[in-house]
Amino acid sequence: MSKFAFMIHPLDINDFARKFPLLGKMPKKVLYQITKMLHPLYVSDVDGVASEYNSIDGCFVGCPLVSEQMVEYPEEFVLNKIIAAGKLAEKKGARILGLGAMTSVIGDAGVTVADNLNIAVTTGNSYTISVACEATKKAAQLMGKGFENTEVLILGATGSIGAVCAQILARDYKYITLAARDKGKLERLAHRIFYQTGLSVRTTTEYRQALKEADVIVAVTSSVDAVIYPDDLKPGAVVCDVARPRDVSKHVAMERDDVLVIEGGVVEVPGNVNFNFNFGYPAGLALACMAETMILALEERYESFTLGRDLTLAQVDEITKLANKHGFKLAGFRSFERAVDEKEIEKIRKQVQEKYAG
Ligand SMILES: NC(=O)c1ccc[n+]([C@@H]2O[C@H](COP(=O)([O-])OP(=O)(O)OC[C@H]3O[C@@H](n4cnc5c(N)ncnc54)[C@H](OP(=O)(O)O)[C@@H]3O)[C@@H](O)[C@H]2O)c1
Repeated sequence: MSKFAFMIHPLDINDFARKFPLLGKMPKKVLYQITKMLHPLYVSDVDGVASEYNSIDGCFVGCPLVSEQMVEYPEEFVLNKIIAAGKLAEKKGARILGLGAMTSVIGDAGVTVADNLNIAVTTGNSYTISVACEATKKAAQLMGKGFENTEVLILGATGSIGAVCAQILARDYKYITLAARDKGKLERLAHRIFYQTGLSVRTTTEYRQALKEADVIVAVTSSVDAVIYPDDLKPGAVVCDVARPRDVSKHVAMERDDVLVIEGGVVEVPGNVNFNFNFGYPAGLALACMAETMILALEERYESFTLGRDLTLAQVDEITKLANKHGFKLAGFRSFERAVDEKEIEKIRKQVQEKYAG
């Protein structure tokens, strides 16, 4: 039976403390020294992924570094840790490995990792893009925001995921702003979008101001810390937070009942899947990047489908077709670790209308 592996890592020190309560009591500095020395870990088996056409087995392997360490430590050290976890996946019989959270962001987005392994590697970003765009459009529509007069902001627009999200959303929306910190990269992307779609998009590095003006936001930066706070958002704003760790501060959930924040990229997995590991979602749901690895394994396409930062619309269209074939689909919306149904979205929408009418 075909086997896949997916690499996870603790997003922050609290994740570590949940898994190893004794280690969690140590000062952060000591804990970081310990994690630096840890070997990769076999986390769990994954069973029950089955479509109409095939069924597969899988597993989670763990890279024992938190997001902050991945960003701050020398790239070579971090990549070696990721490669070591990849070798563990190889030893366990996986034929394709997906890279989760920051393991797909560090360095050249999977290229060096793939060069150093004998199995296929994918970041999962193609399917993440597909699901994030679908979720954004659906949530915006439910909040009454059509394509014509909606201001869309992509924060982290020049990244691997953000750049293609921008190109896809430019097919429908008329007013788009691209935001990140590097002006040159933003302008190059804006030119590319104009060339491809004829749409003239704005760019800004002053994203705090741009956030205040946006109706719909796709948040997809690689920042380790939150970048969107309660005061940044316009009433009625819709935010699709694709980033891991998250871009939207938890304070938004506590202080703003007049905005809709959804997680980008949660999908239903076909079959009767058991991850044997709790990563915070109800049974049967997974992140789109995990799902991409499963889709490729179900298809028996042991190839490095998504690597590097230069992704194409064709890749996204192809993985979307394969996802549909095998029965993967956008799960209902989730916001700050809980499900949000259409009734609740309607309530937010009405609240905004009543509060700000006239
Ligand atoms: N939900 C899922 O299934 C899923 C799947 C894969 C990845 N992800 C997550 O998606 C995020 C992005 O991944 P990626 O591969 O696209 O990363 P990437 O290629 O490194 O791009 C990151 C983008 O964020 C911008 N950025 C970084 N720090 C920033 C800051 N402090 N403020 C504003 N902009 C900032 C970067 O541009 P500048 O450096 O010029 O600012 C760039 O545009 C990561 O959090 C990753 O873990 C989620």
